[in-house]
Amino acid sequence: MPTQSVSSSSESVQSGSVVTTALASDAKSPDAASSSVNLLHRPRRLRRTAGLRRMVRETVLTAADFIYPLFVMEGEGRKESIPSMPGCYRYSLDLLLEEAKVARDLGIGAIALFPLIPDAQKDNAGTESYNPEGLIPRAVRALKEAVPELLVVTDVALDPYSSKGHDGIVENGKILNDETVAVLVKQALTQAEAGANFVAPSDMMDGRVGAIREALDLAGWINVGILAYSAKYASAYYGPFRDALESAPKFGDKKTYQMDAANARESIKEIELDIEEGADIIMVKPALAYLDIICRIKQHTNVPVAAYNVSGEYAMIKAAAQQGWIDEKAVMLETLTSIKRAGADIILTYFAKEAALLLQAK
Ligand code: PBG
Repeated sequence: MPTQSVSSSSESVQSGSVVTTALASDAKSPDAASSSVNLLHRPRRLRRTAGLRRMVRETVLTAADFIYPLFVMEGEGRKESIPSMPGCYRYSLDLLLEEAKVARDLGIGAIALFPLIPDAQKDNAGTESYNPEGLIPRAVRALKEAVPELLVVTDVALDPYSSKGHDGIVENGKILNDETVAVLVKQALTQAEAGANFVAPSDMMDGRVGAIREALDLAGWINVGILAYSAKYASAYYGPFRDALESAPKFGDKKTYQMDAANARESIKEIELDIEEGADIIMVKPALAYLDIICRIKQHTNVPVAAYNVSGEYAMIKAAAQQGWIDEKAVMLETLTSIKRAGADIILTYFAKEAALLLQAK
């Protein structure tokens, strides 16, 4: 039964004393008088105002959650757009530093670097990947000098350097595992030497985390961390990234090393192996079609969990927004929140800068 005071409150609002009854009328439903149900629990009570919603919010995004992936290329004063990734660019070194400073100023804690390598420097063994004077080592050194507080994550994989567009050495159409791991170790050591804070093996060869950890420790790089792409699926969502780096496989696909999209339990096996081998942070990739995997892994482990909101996920939102079909800013924040809510402590996202700006304005 509605109480007496409810109707008196709506009466006083009607009579014009809005100010004196503001609190009471806020707490009393205008239609309570007509309510015939007696509910003990009214979940909507905590959703009535922005202040209440904020107080009980379970997931709060911050710029510190993001790692901002950036594409780097040779040259000076160059910033090339990537048609399938509107708002993302390949930067020459000098402009990369500017973008890194912007990220730092927005409170983003880390960037992840990916190189565009000219065809002439590509070969089957990805030799350029461990050239100490190569694009990535030069970029890392310049970044650590110009923006030392920004963490730098470098990708360990052969695909940007491979004439075949694969993450490993190819022989008779097959991707060799152990021979590839030997090259990945050299690549990781070169990146550590240049000053990378984290090396991030994204290749999915077996045993590479252990091999890299051992080599780093032997060389004295005990504080260089490993962010392992542990549960990385063979996904069609990587298309725009491969456009950006001109790194698409020249034959076949990556299904003999990246995981089958249908498998969930196998992701637990992969993260257990990587943690045993010394991974500091483990990653699920892609994020959106794999929120269940992020959730499972989070419940299974105590190491920080990262998720990669990949290029195709970014492109879908950008494309729909360009058509005027969705509200880009709202969908962006809702998407990133869903990834964090699923269990990601860290999100690699091309939206990092835009999202950080929006969060600042909030
Ligand atoms: C390659 C690598 C890929 C991505 C990150 N590292 C592509 C691939 O595996 O083919 C994809 C990232 C994205 O799509 O945003 N080692």
